[in-house]
Formats: sequence, C-alpha cells, structure tokens
Amino acid sequence: MNLVLVGMSVSDVDRRGHLVAAARDRGATVAFLQMGDPSLSIELTRLADAGADVITLVGVNLGSLAPAHSWLRRIAGHWFRDRAGARPTLDVATRLVTSLSSADLDAALRDRKPISGTEPGLTSAAWEDVTGHRRQVLVCRGPRCTALGGDETMRALVLGMVAARLDDNDVLVTHTGCQFPCNQAPVVSVQPDDVWYGNVDPAAARAIVTGHLVGGSPIESHRLPR
Ligand code: FES
Repeated sequence: MNLVLVGMSVSDVDRRGHLVAAARDRGATVAFLQMGDPSLSIELTRLADAGADVITLVGVNLGSLAPAHSWLRRIAGHWFRDRAGARPTLDVATRLVTSLSSADLDAALRDRKPISGTEPGLTSAAWEDVTGHRRQVLVCRGPRCTALGGDETMRALVLGMVAARLDDNDVLVTHTGCQFPCNQAPVVSVQPDDVWYGNVDPAAARAIVTGHLVGGSPIESHRLPR
C-alpha cells in the first residue's frame, strides 16, 4: 500500500517539515490540496506511473480553516476519472487527522472508503460567476509573514468576518505570496481602497474587520504610508 499524507490547508503547507517527517516514518509520501508542491494530482500520477497498485490517502489538517474533507474525495475522484493509464485502487480515510501521532493516523486508516470516479466534479453552478464583493483583502502568506504569524492573522480575519456576517459578496479574502514590505510583517492590504496594513496581529485583524470592512474607516494605528 502506498500511503500519501495530504495537507489540506495553506497552514499545512507551512508545516511541510512535520508532514514530511511523519511520512518518512511510515514509508509514505506527502502531497497538498492547495498552494503546495507536489499537488495531490501530481503525486497520484507519479505513484501510478511508478506502478503503484494500491494508494491510500489521509487528509491532514494541522492548522485552521481547512477545506471540508469532501474536497479530498472530489480531487481524488477527478484524478481517477481522468487517469489515462492503468488506474490503481484508490481509497481515502473517512476523516481528516488533526495530529500526526501514530495513534491518530492508525485510527484514521482503519476506516477508509474507495474512490470510484463517481464523486462530485470540480464545477458547480454556484461557482460560475465572480462574487459581488466590494473589497478584496489580500493576506500575505509569503515566507516572512508566515513566520511572523500570518496564519493567525488569517484566522482572526476570517472569524471576525463570520462574526460580522460578511461573506464573499461583501469581502473576498485571498492568500498571496510576498507583497514586498516584509519588514512590516504580517502584511494585509485592502483593495480597491489601496490601504496597506503592517504588524497585523489577531487583534489588529479584528479591528480591520470592524473598523474598515464594516465601518468603512481604515485603522490608522496599523496603516502603512503610501
Ligand atoms: S513575506 Fe509578506 S510582505 Fe514579504
């Protein structure tokens, strides 16, 4: 059996070293659902081309704000349907693990469900149009901002938006690579307002939600000069 630990969220890309170490201990490999290399599709193709006849996936959620487990099955099902060459038997642990302990991984591996190719696809009528958002918030997940707490900034921002009942039709939140003023990390910018913030800790992120995104007034205490 070829085991693949699949990082589900951007936070799991940040924790690549932990995933790689846990995978090495079990003779497994690592892939990522988003924003990390190798992607799940690339890793499945690599294993299948190398002759793997059974592949098992375990989704890993070590941080916060991971996509739903169903996305692991969707992506795996899409790959399975599109696979041109010989297809291995592919199954997926039925729950995400939130730690990389042997006990947690063993427990997850006891309950698996096969991928058949009949899983929902990658499109939906609900995802056809650009959202109606008035503002886009760009949260830097470059190396320096990530090292200085960008994941907690993102978490506080999203939870603040949920509490304020803002959704994608109000504000679109996007992870980015380096936005350049790294000395001010963690950096957040708000467009089209052209307002940039530095040193955005969770408290500042919550203030940006209430003051800027809800109230319409930039937070001067963390605003960067333009
Ligand atoms: S890493 Fe965030 S601004 Fe450079």
